Amino acid sequence: MKAFSALFFFFFSISLLLHSLSRSEEELPVGYGYRLRSSSTSSSGKYLTADLEIIQSSTIYGPDIPNLKFLASFESADRIRIRISDADRARWEVPETLIPRETPPYHRSMLEEDRGGSLFLSAPLSNLDLKLDGSTPFSFSISRRSSGEILFDTGGSLLVFKDRYLEISSWLPGDRANLYGLGEHTKRSFRLTANETMTMWNSDTWSSVVDQNLYGSHPFYMDVRSPAGDAHGVLLLNSNGMDVIYGGTYITYKVIGGILDLYFFAGPSPEDVMDQYTELVGRPAPMPYWSFGFHQCRWGYRNVEDLEEVVEGYEKAGIPLETMWSDIDYMDAFKDFTLDPQNYPIQRMKPFVDKLHFNGQKFVFILDPGISINTSYSTFQRAMEADIFLKRNGTNYEGEVWPGKVYFPDWFHPNTSTFWFREISAFLDLLPADGLWIDMNEIANFLNPAPVNDLDTPPYAINNAGVRRPINNRTVPVSCTHHGGTAEYDVHNLHGLLEAKSTHEALLKITGKRPFLLTRSTFVGSGRYAAHWTGDNTATWDDLAYSILGMLNFGLFGIPMVGADICGFSGDTTEELCRRWIQLGAFYPFSRNHAVNSSIRHELYLWDSVARSAKKALGLRYRLLPYYYTLMKEANSKGTPIARPLFFSFPEDAKTYGISTQFMIGKLVMVSPALQPAATYVNAYFPVGRWFNLFNLSETVVSPSGEYVRLESPEEEINVHVRGGSVLAMQDQAMTTRLGRKSGFELLVVFGSDGTAKGELFVDDGEAPEMGGEVGRWSLIKFTGEMDGNGAKLWSKVEGGRYALERKLVVKKVVFLGLDETSAVKTTAASVNGKEVSGGEGARVRFDGRGRFGIVEIEGLSQLMGEEFQLVLGG
Ligand SMILES: *[C@@H]1O[C@H](CO)[C@@H](O)[C@H](O)[C@H]1NC(C)=O
Ligand SMILES: *[C@@H]1O[C@H](CO)[C@@H](O)[C@H](O)[C@H]1NC(C)=O
Ligand SMILES: *[C@@H]1O[C@H](CO)[C@@H](O)[C@H](O)[C@H]1NC(C)=O
Ligand SMILES: *[C@@H]1O[C@H](CO)[C@@H](O)[C@H](O)[C@H]1NC(C)=O
Ligand SMILES: *[C@@H]1O[C@H](CO)[C@@H](O)[C@H](O)[C@H]1NC(C)=O
Ligand SMILES: *[C@@H]1O[C@H](CO)[C@@H](O)[C@H](O)[C@H]1NC(C)=O
Ligand SMILES: *[C@@H]1O[C@H](CO)[C@@H](O)[C@H](O)[C@H]1NC(C)=O
Repeated sequence: MKAFSALFFFFFSISLLLHSLSRSEEELPVGYGYRLRSSSTSSSGKYLTADLEIIQSSTIYGPDIPNLKFLASFESADRIRIRISDADRARWEVPETLIPRETPPYHRSMLEEDRGGSLFLSAPLSNLDLKLDGSTPFSFSISRRSSGEILFDTGGSLLVFKDRYLEISSWLPGDRANLYGLGEHTKRSFRLTANETMTMWNSDTWSSVVDQNLYGSHPFYMDVRSPAGDAHGVLLLNSNGMDVIYGGTYITYKVIGGILDLYFFAGPSPEDVMDQYTELVGRPAPMPYWSFGFHQCRWGYRNVEDLEEVVEGYEKAGIPLETMWSDIDYMDAFKDFTLDPQNYPIQRMKPFVDKLHFNGQKFVFILDPGISINTSYSTFQRAMEADIFLKRNGTNYEGEVWPGKVYFPDWFHPNTSTFWFREISAFLDLLPADGLWIDMNEIANFLNPAPVNDLDTPPYAINNAGVRRPINNRTVPVSCTHHGGTAEYDVHNLHGLLEAKSTHEALLKITGKRPFLLTRSTFVGSGRYAAHWTGDNTATWDDLAYSILGMLNFGLFGIPMVGADICGFSGDTTEELCRRWIQLGAFYPFSRNHAVNSSIRHELYLWDSVARSAKKALGLRYRLLPYYYTLMKEANSKGTPIARPLFFSFPEDAKTYGISTQFMIGKLVMVSPALQPAATYVNAYFPVGRWFNLFNLSETVVSPSGEYVRLESPEEEINVHVRGGSVLAMQDQAMTTRLGRKSGFELLVVFGSDGTAKGELFVDDGEAPEMGGEVGRWSLIKFTGEMDGNGAKLWSKVEGGRYALERKLVVKKVVFLGLDETSAVKTTAASVNGKEVSGGEGARVRFDGRGRFGIVEIEGLSQLMGEEFQLVLGG
């Protein structure tokens, strides 16, 4: 290892030095860097602090900060925090009130008794170790204790700490590291490819543009190391603009402010990393059950009649529609909390929304952050009175968005949330919508503000828009000041998070129900409050494919409720593209069709072939809603994404690491969409196991060790497979989730080659603020199936059965699939809790020998879900 690292560092330092401080005309002095002056550890072994001092300074990007405080905290067995900051002066950091976390002992006096210097810290229960390099310049490394694998190592790279330029790097084993995350960007490949710069600067732009900073910032990555498949996570908790350069053999952060606040998550499974990451940044908000239904939106519905016509279109075509949305069209001259008196008068809108509700449907509308400057607009008057707008140079900053000139609420002002709550509350009194959509919150601004001070022109230009565009371009200038004096420079990337937090809290307070909120701009922790869509995409085949990566990335960012605009937002879609898009989009966690005002209409009923595809794909989605909802519960408790990359379930299979065209829903279901025009087949990867086509249960793939399989992909169909070893709880397909939830459950028991199957079901009322909580408000049912030479059985274990009993939830059908010849496939006898079901009480057992494995369907049951049961098939 030693010899290897020495050799490695030689090449590594050269490559890093080439890539860092990228002003080639300026040279760094020899010996640039920091030296370790002293270090100490706390007696508990939890903390290590070190004092660093500059050796040789340089003036590139400003003067060096001479003294740094290095602090390592072993916050849990699976999390280390490394915080490097100015030893002498406080600097901007993401507020602990926004992302609650441990306050570390910033000063030695805050530490318990010192233990004196030690360069190696290994808290007794930690799964990670930290080592400071005694040599100069200062460096540190983090390794996995069980294997000694080095996860992060700054040795041989630059540590730069200036007022407005920070840099830190780690080497990575180029042939074994597989990185994911670091967004928001549209990517061609889910796994990051070497020599990419990921810029974090929230920006109102087109998500169809590849490799540019988009609406949100998530300086978090997951690294899955081949060949064992151990995963870990790394977060740089910093809200300033930055470039993250992934060079294959290294990663470099170039940040224009704040501090270096790194968190390492030990994994070792991808699920563990998500659990550990969301434990820190916040668990994903539970989403209401209805929000898993299908949504229709469009910018450019001219009036209430247009909305009514669309709802009717879906109804007539027999395509489920859960939620109708309004983009900015409903507003009076694009002013928030107003209705266009001509086209969307309250006398028409209120009955429209009431009728939706009567039919079990929902309504969601958009809000933008900019408040129109108009002295006869009451929302504006109230905001002026409360004096809550963002300031620049002492006066309200004037931007320009859809309504024309606007001021922007300053979410750091203590009274902004109250203002916002009151406006939302009053408007919902008028028009009782079911959820809100916050857009343009990067903050988008149609102006390109000129610089007023040197904040506006930082010494290092991040790669904004891929061309180092000024950071003020099309947003509010960074020289604006927030309440308390904080500069927009430091908090620009937080705007979407702050707005989502206030809006979520307002909805919760007003309705007392679980909020549904969709936001475009996000930051670390936004998943606690909102769902996300991948923004303004285009109706192209490329964007259809990118949507998978956008969705998977947001799963990693702790925002599992995510989807892309189905059929494409801008540009004119085609019948074929729209057909393929709804086939895929039906399986996004958040499934919404949306379009820009200038494009052709593309509601799903407009083309017959799209309508047929939609009915089929959404039909399966609606049958799977209990499963999606159970996955929402898992996400809410442990951060596990709903839509997942294949490697989450198969980390030991390196062939899954590079897959960008398929994904899993939870652990049990795999989606392999057609992403090319005129496709008649897809080449899909099947990890080890037995896989059954979920639409017709008969087409089977048996993959002994993981292989690509050419699957037919007929025009109107998508390939969705369930894996052997699964129990899926499903309900009937229906036009609304309200209707679907009234049906009995069907359990699909799919045996793997080891003869077992497992699955679970979480149920609650779908709208209580918390998922789980008080006993009596939810039930969790765990199913286990087993098959052997004598037959097969399925039994349940129930937690909190009262809810399911009170709601009279029943299992009406059980389907056993994957029965092989040695088992009693020819049986027609079954019993539940020892009582024969065959023939009697309307129950019937049907054997179907389709395909390569046996199917047995037991229908006509009325087994209470809230009671534990055992169903035995055959002997
Ligand atoms: C990354 O860039 C370096 C320097 O330009 C080049 O030598 C290397 O081949 C590139 N790596 C990849 C994977 O493109
Ligand atoms: C200002 O707002 C009022 C009330 O919403 C509206 O009637 C008026 O047209 C607006 N004026 C301008 C210039 O937009
Ligand atoms: C917030 O509102 C309260 C009540 O109107 C007022 O007393 C207080 O001064 C306001 N705070 C700020 C910072 O403006
Ligand atoms: C900032 O405000 C001061 C005082 O009102 C004024 O003199 C100056 O011109 C303003 N600067 C800019 C760039 O608006
Ligand atoms: C800022 O953005 C606009 C697009 O709105 C672009 O036309 C302009 O050139 C940009 N300005 C600079 C300096 O890059
Ligand atoms: C779309 O909306 C924009 C902004 O309001 C407007 O300028 C444009 O005319 C609209 N286009 C169509 C086709 O309605
Ligand atoms: C099942 O669906 C697949 C995929 O659409 C199709 O290729 C196959 O022919 C179907 N099988 C049957 C028996 O319908």
